Amino acid sequence: MKGMFITFEGIEGVGKSTQIAKLYEYLSVDHPVIQVRDPGGTKIGTEIRKVLLDPSIKEPFSRFAELFLYAASRAQLMEQVVIPALKEGKIVLCDRFIDSTVAYQAYGAGIPLDDVRQINRLAIREYVPHRTYLLDLPLSVSQKRIGMRSSGKDRMEQKSLAFHGRVRNGYLAIAEENKERIMLIDATKSKKTIFEEIVRDIHSYL
Ligand code: TMP
Repeated sequence: MKGMFITFEGIEGVGKSTQIAKLYEYLSVDHPVIQVRDPGGTKIGTEIRKVLLDPSIKEPFSRFAELFLYAASRAQLMEQVVIPALKEGKIVLCDRFIDSTVAYQAYGAGIPLDDVRQINRLAIREYVPHRTYLLDLPLSVSQKRIGMRSSGKDRMEQKSLAFHGRVRNGYLAIAEENKERIMLIDATKSKKTIFEEIVRDIHSYL
């Protein structure tokens, strides 16, 4: 792999999208860079994303159907977009990735960790991100931020407070286990401070 694969993670409302957009703009001045999101990023992935997040689907999702759909969207994204871009030497910025599946489907929904890791491996093969920025917020702040959004809550955002609490704790456990890959960032800091921390960090990889 010649390029650089960077992912952003965190619970709802931590400000991932803002930081990715700023980093994309910053890096694109003198680097080939693309920005994608997971689930999504391809036509097939975008259709899968709609099914996963549609709040009008009231039928309860099987936890495994959910896991496989996230993995399906990711496998498509890898083959169609991410792997070719990395082979061309590009920097790929991805909004969510494998750590989301471990946090949401294992810690949140209770699927055994080993099952989730195995499915993740099938979807990404050897393409583990080089660096991951995990934005962390207390649950109360995250819930307040999603509550203030003008658009309605999607199907995942509608899950219980207890679910989102498990997801946050899951992320903290994942960060602890992957200290060399994951940089844990306190997302209560200002957008400007967070961005400066990310930029300082990324320069040691470029
Ligand atoms: P977002 O892209 O707007 O953050 O929404 C994606 C939602 O899907 C978010 O609630 C996290 C959830 N998700 C999972 O549950 N598992 C996954 O593997 C991924 C990538 C996202």
